[in-house]
Amino acid sequence: MAKTIVVLGSFVADVAFRMGRLPAWGETVLGSGLALGPGGKGSNQAVAAARALQGSGARVRIASRVGDDAFGQIAHATWEAAGVEASLVDVGGVPTGSAAILIDEVSGNNAIVVVPGACYTLTPEDVDRMAEAIRGAKVLLVQLELPLATVQRGLEIARAAGVTTILNPAPAVPLSEEMLSLVDYLTPNESEAALLTGLPVETVEQAEVCARALLERGPKVVILTLGERGAIACARGGEPVFVPAFHAGPVVETTGAGDAFCGGFAAALLEGKALSEAVRFGCATAGISVTRAGTAPSMPQRAEIEALLRG
Ligand code: RIB
Repeated sequence: MAKTIVVLGSFVADVAFRMGRLPAWGETVLGSGLALGPGGKGSNQAVAAARALQGSGARVRIASRVGDDAFGQIAHATWEAAGVEASLVDVGGVPTGSAAILIDEVSGNNAIVVVPGACYTLTPEDVDRMAEAIRGAKVLLVQLELPLATVQRGLEIARAAGVTTILNPAPAVPLSEEMLSLVDYLTPNESEAALLTGLPVETVEQAEVCARALLERGPKVVILTLGERGAIACARGGEPVFVPAFHAGPVVETTGAGDAFCGGFAAALLEGKALSEAVRFGCATAGISVTRAGTAPSMPQRAEIEALLRG
């Protein structure tokens, strides 16, 4: 049977505005561009993994819910084009969600508001109905744009079956030790790690301290992504692994860079790469994604990632 990643997560439509600077409350500024496209951390990560695994024979399946509407159609078209299998996606109920993304046209940095919509109605019972698919996977990849109880049920099913679990704790909310102890690989960025621990994460040294504090709470490995600096991975009882960021060209938009990392990292783990190689693969995937506009559309193909890794 083909090696499989199941991504239990969100789809929303991204409405992205580019501007010279963010407006203050009560202020209006003129923007320079608008784009509507596929988003949602779960879907973005599934697309990143599928593109990274292109031609390898591996499967990427998304487990989610979208509305019976135009945004839901964008979801299905996106998955079909990327080779993501969508048979675990329910359609109907409430409308598909959306995200308002404000992008600084100079730095490419962003601020996001997500209204998850249909995917946020997925319940633990819905996940129970997907249990066989999760048990049949090698990797389960989850984020936090679904209800916590739903995410936890997915992790429980995966852990009980010996399936490797990756939790990208985004957007960050406080998490129980019960949930964190179901996680093999936890992949926060700096602000998410700071929220989860209450510790500062401004330097690489602080990132290591923070990652070690998170390890104490349950995950087997913490990979703290550091934006333009790269990522640091800490495993219990092991030396930290620092991977510098890959520079693949001028930064256009950083939205979805964390999703690119997670999708690429999950793909590399699925293929049996060692931790340091898998983190390099994730960083290379993210390094290319930030040179392009959009989230799912910015995810690179396998050949591009391999070329960047070869240097
Ligand atoms: O991680 C980026 C994603 O976060 C965007 O695509 C947006 O939809 C939000 O979910």
